[in-house]
Amino acid sequence: MVDGLIFFPYPIDEIAEGSVQIVVPCLKIFADGTAEHIPSKTPVYYNPQMALNRNITILVLRTYQSLVKKELFICEPLTGSGVRGIRFAAEVNGVKSVVMNDLNPLAAKLARYNVKKNALDHKIIVENMDANYLLSNFTFPAKRFDVIDIDPFGSPSIFIDTALRALRNKGLLALTATDTAPLCGVKPQACIRKYFSKPLRTEYCHELAIRILLSYLNFTAAKYDLHVQVLFSFYAHHYVRVYTQINHSAETANKTLKEIGYIFHCFNCLHREWTFGFINVKEPKCFVCGGKMSVSGPLWLGELANKNFILNMLADEKGNEFQRELKIIRDILKECDAPPTYYALNRLSKKLNIPSPRKVNVIKKLVDQGYQAFPTHFDSQGIKSNSPISVIEQALNTSV
Ligand SMILES: C[S@@+](CC[C@H](N)C(=O)[O-])C[C@H]1O[C@@H](n2cnc3c(N)ncnc32)[C@H](O)[C@@H]1O
Ligand SMILES: [Zn+2]
Repeated sequence: MVDGLIFFPYPIDEIAEGSVQIVVPCLKIFADGTAEHIPSKTPVYYNPQMALNRNITILVLRTYQSLVKKELFICEPLTGSGVRGIRFAAEVNGVKSVVMNDLNPLAAKLARYNVKKNALDHKIIVENMDANYLLSNFTFPAKRFDVIDIDPFGSPSIFIDTALRALRNKGLLALTATDTAPLCGVKPQACIRKYFSKPLRTEYCHELAIRILLSYLNFTAAKYDLHVQVLFSFYAHHYVRVYTQINHSAETANKTLKEIGYIFHCFNCLHREWTFGFINVKEPKCFVCGGKMSVSGPLWLGELANKNFILNMLADEKGNEFQRELKIIRDILKECDAPPTYYALNRLSKKLNIPSPRKVNVIKKLVDQGYQAFPTHFDSQGIKSNSPISVIEQALNTSV
């Protein structure tokens, strides 16, 4: 531990992440019996577990920059220690400048220190104000950003309006949501308040969480005549993350709204179906078992990642420093064309009262019968398929 009392009113550590060295609060002090440290208790936020999120963002930004072929003006309005924005400036080619910001004066001070420590003060400025106020100052067309990364505690929903207004045409908007309790249906009222959508506590609730966040983003964007193109999204470590390109086009915004709808789920037999459109939802009877179906939505029923964008992200895999992240990206490529929802093998085998079979065997059985079947990064036990629940159950029964 470095003695930080001279500079900072708390003990500090010096750490390396990616290609940068930064100072952060000494995390060990904020450990309790269950967690290595409690991020919300630290004077300035830094979570080493979120390095995966930051690494994937570096890969996304490198790809985006190589596709748009322009210098990037980036904003990270909720920066904490500054590690994310500093890494953008240090590890992504073609970054013109980064505006970082945090409401917490201790965070802004530490982020400024870390910027200087990495000799990046010619590229980065750090502000200390409310994120929405900061973004509102950049809504004038000539001042807008190419990239905005919203990485808050909990829900990003309160920052989406100003972020959309401060983004250039074809700009990239990245959102993290760590409020999985509302999004996954543990706190349904909070989800309705924050996202105007009803969640459902099913085995595929992490996928629903991304779909609910994307639906809220689409509705918010549509009122500014903006179209949301999903580039990439994933779930990891109790948060969801989406990367989208925002295009100025009312016409295309109308088209994407057609990809909003509802998912119906039968808790009795696990059959699911979905319907496009967001008016007049009536929970149907399950046509498999006749039970009552439960509804989730409105939510996004379109693609969760763009195949072309993923292939571009994978283009320079060899020698790339982010092999763990590239594996996740390759897994997501495999499920790009899969239908909504997935079946968890452990949940199904419990229902059938059989031991859990090997996933590859079940997938093979389904594919041999002419159905689509995919693994999913959402759950190591998960299978996405367009086959009826009866066929999946039969595949399980014959795979053990
Ligand atoms: C999850 S942390 C950010 C972590 C950072 N992006 C990273 O990758 O390490 C969220 C940060 O948002 C800041 N914050 C919370 N509300 C804010 C607001 N309304 N405006 C600006 N900053 C805010 C907090 O002080 C905290 O540092
Ligand atoms: Zn049913």
